[in-house]
Amino acid sequence: MAYYITTPIYYVNAEPHIGHAYTTVVADVLARFHRLQGEEVRFQTGTDEHGDKVLDAAAAAGLPVKEFVDRISARFRQSWDNLDISYDNYVRTTDPAHVEVVQNILTQVHDSGNIYFGEYGGLYCYGCECFYLERDLVDGLCPDHKVAPTFLKEENYFFRMSKYQDWLIDQIKRHPDWIRPERYRNEMLAFLKEPLEDLCISRPKSRMDWGITLPFDERYVTYVWFDALINYLTGLDYPDGAAYRKFWPAQHFIAKDILKPHAIYWPTMLKAMGVEPFQNLNVHGYWQMAAGKMSKSLGNVVDPETLAGRFGIDQVRYFFLREMVFGLDAHFSEAALITRINADLANDLGNLFARSLGMAFKYRQGVVPAPGVPEPLDQEVVTAAQTMTADFLRLFPALEFSKALAGLWEFIGLLNRYIVTTAPWQLAKEPEAAARLDTVLYHLVEGLRWIAALLRPVMPASALQMSKQLGLGLALWDQPLAQVLKWGRLTPGSLLAKGPPLFPRIETEAK
Ligand code: MSP
Repeated sequence: MAYYITTPIYYVNAEPHIGHAYTTVVADVLARFHRLQGEEVRFQTGTDEHGDKVLDAAAAAGLPVKEFVDRISARFRQSWDNLDISYDNYVRTTDPAHVEVVQNILTQVHDSGNIYFGEYGGLYCYGCECFYLERDLVDGLCPDHKVAPTFLKEENYFFRMSKYQDWLIDQIKRHPDWIRPERYRNEMLAFLKEPLEDLCISRPKSRMDWGITLPFDERYVTYVWFDALINYLTGLDYPDGAAYRKFWPAQHFIAKDILKPHAIYWPTMLKAMGVEPFQNLNVHGYWQMAAGKMSKSLGNVVDPETLAGRFGIDQVRYFFLREMVFGLDAHFSEAALITRINADLANDLGNLFARSLGMAFKYRQGVVPAPGVPEPLDQEVVTAAQTMTADFLRLFPALEFSKALAGLWEFIGLLNRYIVTTAPWQLAKEPEAAARLDTVLYHLVEGLRWIAALLRPVMPASALQMSKQLGLGLALWDQPLAQVLKWGRLTPGSLLAKGPPLFPRIETEAK
């Protein structure tokens, strides 16, 4: 099966922050998860480089715009490399191949009569780069930027978006999880109760010329959203590429801030082009800071690379997935991150791993023992591993990462209790309990193998470290999950290996 997953292409007007990092990590975790299921995956991210905002930022930085976008785009790329993001393709909207496809699509949609020339006077927000209707404003201000929009009247090109309103409503109603979670689907259905306007898709060069020239009128550039959304196709070499035939339709991942362009503009654009709709629009909430929104002016922007440098890449990745319920807002704080690292990673998982391997070395010289006949307590471990795994494999594709991980941590808790109940240090003192000790140690290390396998998409480096310490060969590691997750595959007689602690505690200053 083919699986195509995308993040938004990020504006290069500012440096990457943890909001961007979150979406990108989620997409990466799913890309890895689907690869482990044996699927053929294409994972795309990139940068959105045209429009007012970017032009202004380049001017503020005192750099020629192309030099500026090259620099920030490379910064995003470097951030993703430093967070272990396994993207297959990185699109930039200034790539000549992208520009060409956007122009071809514009020509096609124009030729088919779905783009027309007209005059429009309206309230324009420069921050959003779009026109607002009175009813969309909050106390007369742009709901996002909290500034009064400017009245602007000019001649422009319009995409006949209104024509697709009934089709779009029908599409949303007929595919209940097309836009998910449900709250965002409902938000769009409510929005579509009002008449849909046509979409202004050009900007006169006299006002702003940093964009893709309209193929049918040199005096205009393309509206940045009409240009940007098309990245999801250009990255697949649309229309003739083999990648397009194999991978479209996409799983798009975005936050709630850009719901409307993705749920309204994009499907209607695709419809006008005669392209099948995307597979799902997956929408998450916002990371909130103590002061509310994360913003440059509030000085509370968190750089993901710095964070990963201080606390560890896998630690940050785990925190993202465990702490935020996909679809809802969550609070970000260093204290919450440290708590997760110390409690979940260092204490629960790190200790379980270190204790289990420590005992296997102490009592069995690091050789995986052969288990004897299981007792009910051991059987409970096997059943819990199987139930938890079935839940995990169901919850992950349903985007319930936090719940899936909570379930995995219950299993970790169960194994920690199993150690206390079976008390291997007691068994080690009694020669007649040797077979029993073998069984207990086997269940511990085999349980750890399952944990490592399931954590692999979330914490790739730590899971690999675990696999090395568990002495796993390729057959127990580099195979589809379904093969790996069979109880009892860890071979008795195989050798464990010593290694550094997985998750060092973060020491905080005493209060
Ligand atoms: N360039 C457009 C997207 C075009 S896609 C065809 C854009 N760029 S952006 O740089 O502003 O990125 C917005 C995205 O960044 C959000 O949808 C989300 O993925 C991520 N986030 C930015 N801030 C965020 C939070 N505070 N919390 C969570 N994610 C956030 O919009």
